[in-house]
Amino acid sequence: MKITFSPAGLGTTPFLVIGSGIAGLYTALKLAEIANVTLITKEALEESNTSYAQGGIAVALSPADSPDLHYTDTIQAGAGLCLPPAVATLVHEGPERVQELIAWGVPFDADAGTLLMTREAAHSFPRVLHADGDASGREITKVLAQRVAGHPRITVKENHYAVALLTGEEGCYGAMVLDENGTRTSILAEATILATGGSGQIFTDTTNPAVATGDGLALAYLAGAPLADLEFVQFHPTALHLEGAPCFLITEAVRGEGGILRNQRGVRFMPSYHEQAELAPRDVVARSVWSEMEKTGTDHVYLDLSLLSTELIKSRFPNIYETCLSYGLDITKAPIPVAPAAHYMMGGIAIDLHGRTALPRLFACGEVANSGVHGANRLASNSLLDGLVFGYRIFRYLQNSPWQRPDLPPELAAVFPTETSPELLAADRSALKELASTHLGIIRREDALQNAQRQVAPASSATPIPLNRPYLELQNMRLLVRLMLDAALSRRESRGSHYRADYPDPDPAWAKRIVLSPTGVSFIPADQPFSWSW
Ligand code: SIN
Repeated sequence: MKITFSPAGLGTTPFLVIGSGIAGLYTALKLAEIANVTLITKEALEESNTSYAQGGIAVALSPADSPDLHYTDTIQAGAGLCLPPAVATLVHEGPERVQELIAWGVPFDADAGTLLMTREAAHSFPRVLHADGDASGREITKVLAQRVAGHPRITVKENHYAVALLTGEEGCYGAMVLDENGTRTSILAEATILATGGSGQIFTDTTNPAVATGDGLALAYLAGAPLADLEFVQFHPTALHLEGAPCFLITEAVRGEGGILRNQRGVRFMPSYHEQAELAPRDVVARSVWSEMEKTGTDHVYLDLSLLSTELIKSRFPNIYETCLSYGLDITKAPIPVAPAAHYMMGGIAIDLHGRTALPRLFACGEVANSGVHGANRLASNSLLDGLVFGYRIFRYLQNSPWQRPDLPPELAAVFPTETSPELLAADRSALKELASTHLGIIRREDALQNAQRQVAPASSATPIPLNRPYLELQNMRLLVRLMLDAALSRRESRGSHYRADYPDPDPAWAKRIVLSPTGVSFIPADQPFSWSW
């Protein structure tokens, strides 16, 4: 559904940032060096996927490490679909960005002034910085959120939900928003930055918080900006699977410190799947765990911490220790029951190396964006770095380009998703999650994908759609599931996190990206950067 209106009389903010994970907070702080920023976020400033990140931030800071090694590891994990210049940007610019966080006061764990670094899966070197043991995301968020909240050039609007991007002759002019009272308002901006994060909530089991409903992807798509790589969803191999407890992340760093995966019979299984055993790439470990669960007819495996001392468990993983204890599990004494859960969306809004989307004046960074940096399988702890590096790239682009304040067009448009009719929607959220989990999970098949596709065909209801957050979130999720099904059906091979039981091998002919936009599907070679003419 499209509505149009005249923007006459509405004020304009130079920069509008939507989202408050690491990408949104950091980009807002950098842009405030140039001009005023309005940052909107759908709940509290500190509520985002970033806040729940445990492992930390991968960066080649150790003198014995190098960005080139980090580059090689990232490319290898990405299963032939990483974009080399994007990865080079990430690993070479990453160290300076992380030094900036340190200068701003992020308390990364250190011993006598030397930063402590952990090795995580598919890294050839221990390069993951962490904070308060396993509360890295929370600690980073605290520092950034505090700086944002106290910044004289940043206006923060919590509990503001973006419902559509505003478009006109020259691209994007901001967003239509529901404020804390559910009242519709428009925020006009010279540049709009989407940093809305992930979409794990479309699955039943996810490590993501309730806010991760993929809104930014839907907003961008409906406004005309293409999305890429939507078939690639990363399932984390080890989420807590304990009766009565939430689906809580058990960081890969636990395996980095010596945790061992065992099946129901107590047998260590990872060495029979991959030479790097528990530290194989994440997609490999997730599929192996899944396969062991199938073989033994159970819904979990165990993460055995018996090689880790009690002292190490309590000091390195205080958050996991306390959380498990609160559900009656003492992990210094018993193994942790774990199962895979949806964790990270590799696909996203296609951006170039400046964070520009195809829609003029619309930028994106963080999990919602796709620069090609993660390929078909993101390397552990590269996501926080991605948010910083590409957020900075947006800042630098806007700082250096002869940025023209746009003349407001006589008419602006906002497009809303109409995936299903309001009458049919009532009990749809859990049904949608079931459908995505069953058909778009770790193992996929053509007939099941087609079956699911029939169930989420878009509606053509004439009934006006209600503009409220629960309804629009579900519409966004439903649109996203439909697009993910299209992409998963198209890719007739297995690569990275996308595993097709009916096409179990990688096919070199598929070294290309699937790009979806309202005008259709296109395929671009994996080594070809996105580039736009604006
Ligand atoms: C983890 O701590 O295992 C997750 C880190 C990440 O997603 O990169």
